[in-house]
Amino acid sequence: MMRMISPIIFIFSLLLFSCHAAVQDFCVADLTAPDTPAGYACKKAANVTVDDFVFSGLGVAANTTGTFNKAAVTPAFVAQFPGVNGLGFSFARLDMEPGGVVPIHTHPGASEAILVLEGKITAGFVSSANTVYYKTLKKGDVFIFPQGLLHFQVNAGSTHVQVFVTFSSANPGLQILDLSLFSNDFPSELVAATSFLDIPQIKKLKAFFGGTG
Ligand SMILES: *[C@@H]1O[C@H](CO)[C@@H](O)[C@H](O)[C@H]1NC(C)=O
Ligand SMILES: *[C@@H]1O[C@H](CO)[C@@H](O)[C@H](O)[C@H]1NC(C)=O
Repeated sequence: MMRMISPIIFIFSLLLFSCHAAVQDFCVADLTAPDTPAGYACKKAANVTVDDFVFSGLGVAANTTGTFNKAAVTPAFVAQFPGVNGLGFSFARLDMEPGGVVPIHTHPGASEAILVLEGKITAGFVSSANTVYYKTLKKGDVFIFPQGLLHFQVNAGSTHVQVFVTFSSANPGLQILDLSLFSNDFPSELVAATSFLDIPQIKKLKAFFGGTG
């Protein structure tokens, strides 16, 4: 008897499993609903159009005029590109003028890959063992920044830089180290105590980055 029942139970559990495993084709973000750790809620299928799966903004250089770092990013994250919701990737374009720099920062939610399309950059990251991996890259080179690690890019040439960027999340997140330290009202004395920098330097950087305290 047991011999007969076991295969039947097995087949039933397979059927149950496949029902539970059935997935929706896509979950285009309903940007009117709040973002959550699991992404946005899905737009009603009847409201989804092909334009939810197309982002057209990466053909134009981002406007770097007036930026302190002579660089600008055009994001194609879920907020700009609802079709990537739940798919685990997103894109961006980085433009840098001569002297441009993307200050050291981290994306808590994503690994990143960059492809140099124009110009020459030095890109690098710091591991949690504080080893620095950096290299000067030219057109056609791809570099990866593992998830969560502090990284940077600088224009290493004398011409415009264009970089295509992809992330392993629809919403990679961003924390820029200098802004975290100097663009807020964290008291300078506490910044000094926790960073070992001296107060005049901290006050100078707070003035530059718009912090108080
Ligand atoms: C879907 O489209 C209808 C009609 O255009 C609109 O009233 C409704 O708010 C939309 N719903 C969502 C979830 O986008
Ligand atoms: C670029 O940004 C500057 C400063 O914000 C602005 O004055 C200028 O009009 C912008 N240029 C374009 C083409 O949008």
